[in-house]
Amino acid sequence: MEKINLDWESLGFSYRKTDKRYVANFKEGKWDEGILTEDHNIVLNECAGVLQYAQTCFEGMKAYTTKDGKIVIFRPELNAQRLEDSAKRIHIAPFPKDRFVDAVVQTVKANAAFVPPYGYGGSLYIRPYLFGTNPTIGVKPAEEFQFRIFTTPVGPYFKDGVKPLTLCVSDYDRAAPHGTGNAKLGLNYAMSLHALVTAKVNGFDENMFLDSATRTKVEETGGANFIFVTKENKLVTPKSESILPSITLRSLMVIAKEYLGLEVEERVVYFEEVKDFAECGLCGTAAVISPVGKIIDHGNEICFSSGMAEMGPITKKLYDTLTGIQLGHIKAPEGWIKMIE
Ligand code: PLP
Ligand code: COI
Repeated sequence: MEKINLDWESLGFSYRKTDKRYVANFKEGKWDEGILTEDHNIVLNECAGVLQYAQTCFEGMKAYTTKDGKIVIFRPELNAQRLEDSAKRIHIAPFPKDRFVDAVVQTVKANAAFVPPYGYGGSLYIRPYLFGTNPTIGVKPAEEFQFRIFTTPVGPYFKDGVKPLTLCVSDYDRAAPHGTGNAKLGLNYAMSLHALVTAKVNGFDENMFLDSATRTKVEETGGANFIFVTKENKLVTPKSESILPSITLRSLMVIAKEYLGLEVEERVVYFEEVKDFAECGLCGTAAVISPVGKIIDHGNEICFSSGMAEMGPITKKLYDTLTGIQLGHIKAPEGWIKMIE
């Protein structure tokens, strides 16, 4: 497959129109067969459920070119399941899970020229999403929905790549205890925008959100889960009903245990104990593993011993193993890698 002419080395995390996108519509209680189209615009009724009451959920995935030139995706069945869970949470008709992976494969194949070649650190970001399309003016779920998948070639999510980040403890809440924080809904991200802009204006890269009920427990950032490493090299990650169940995190827990022989603890993490960890990082599809060097809590600094120059040694091992599995240098656990072509 001939690649388009792009400066692969300097891709950031931004939208670039690619050739084809997948579209399916749900009407009268069923999904149509779906098509790939070149039309990147969506025409919607002015009163569509998504526009009035934010009835939309989405996923984030990546396609990689492996060392031997194959295009692969990572654990897509888990994205299919999470999209179904998110859809049900806000009364969107789920897109059938058994068709989800096929639709992703079709879309990536149709845009293979945009998958960054091996060796540039880039990937093709895949964004599946679902939204209410018919007019809804009284507050109630839509009855018609659209499922779409677009792709865009991306580089690192944070502009300095894998340089340690500085976070601040947010004064805003991301999710309520019995709210929607554990589903991937557009509304959660709208909620976090003001907190993000405020953090950036104040010179920080991201927010650390605490639990909104007690403000004593670590939750996550606007777009990634936390990992911590103790001084004894144990991987610790926050457990909470109101954070998104990250597929990257679930994979890192397996990697830590089975590939690196580390102890792993998923448990409540109090903010009070964060200063005692040796390393901290953010993990997610977009973030991969982005190291955190410093967290500022209203003027009080927590500096991790891994410092501000590079990622800590355990974070680096996790990063190298995860990306090694995704890029085909390291044997993946059964079923983690789906070959596209
Ligand atoms: N938490 C939030 C709020 C996210 O938006 C994401 C990104 O998808 C994650 C965590 C990481 O999830 P995953 O590893 O499945 O991409
Ligand atoms: C992802 O990692 O795929 C996300 O959806 C997070 C977002 C901040 C880009």
